[in-house]
Amino acid sequence: MSGTGVEVAGLAKRFAGVDAVRDATFNAHPGRVTGFLGPNGAGKSTTLRMLLGLTRPDAGTALIGGVPYRDLDDPSGTVGAVLDIAGAHPAMTARGHLRAYCALGGHAAANAERVAEPTGISAYLDRRVGSFSTGMRQRLSLATALLGDPAVLVLDEPSNGLDPAGIVWLRTFLREYAASGRTVLLSSHVLTELQYGVDDLVLIDRGRVTWEGSLAEFTAHGTSLEEAFLRFTSDAAPRTAPGASGAPIEGVRA
Ligand SMILES: Nc1ncnc2c1ncn2[C@@H]1O[C@H](COP(=O)(O)OP(=O)(O)OP(=O)(O)O)[C@@H](O)[C@H]1O
Ligand SMILES: [Mg+2]
Repeated sequence: MSGTGVEVAGLAKRFAGVDAVRDATFNAHPGRVTGFLGPNGAGKSTTLRMLLGLTRPDAGTALIGGVPYRDLDDPSGTVGAVLDIAGAHPAMTARGHLRAYCALGGHAAANAERVAEPTGISAYLDRRVGSFSTGMRQRLSLATALLGDPAVLVLDEPSNGLDPAGIVWLRTFLREYAASGRTVLLSSHVLTELQYGVDDLVLIDRGRVTWEGSLAEFTAHGTSLEEAFLRFTSDAAPRTAPGASGAPIEGVRA
């Protein structure tokens, strides 16, 4: 498939006494929204941080368009990321914040207004970020990630703080973004957030990728999404595929 995808292979990270990520391997493909789903503490953020060059892996590789993040010629024009929403200075206006990031990424200042429109913050551009609600901050973070019109979007729990209408808006936005041939990888610990919004699923549990495949495969043969999720994230669960094809990762539990 053409386009810029994400390839994670054998990725591992251990913090003092904690195997945060263990031998994680999965792909996120151009033209598709990939949900990275797992319980709290499963290793989602650590994996995404390694993909974005913010945490050094102990082993393995994480590639964007075939190269590690640190080797990208045009990082913010290749991958846009929202890992947390604390980044904007409260005294800055949204426009000032976006323009500063345009300058940092080498993008035209007019991109600040261009990204405000699809993210729904045009009317708030001249307000100080300190007065923003959590949901507005999420939208500003997404707008910041979009400044370089990136081929890949990486979002860590982007629905946090969004109201139901905001969640539907985000889902629609990400679908359209992927439909234009780009790659969207978003994490969530909330199963129901992903059930309408993603094409593919990667499940992670206690640092290990336990399933990878399409959402359709995941829920094949009448298995509910919840049942399949619990099967791949609970200790007592049998290690069988929820559907016929899919890609269960066998033998990952002691
Ligand atoms: N900097 C760190 N130092 C020590 N331990 C860490 C660090 N970052 C993460 N961990 C640990 O690694 C494990 C995975 O954490 P991570 O934040 O990647 O999980 P997550 O899937 O993003 O969880 P959540 O859904 O709560 O965001 C956890 O046990 C966590 O406590
Ligand atoms: Mg996290």
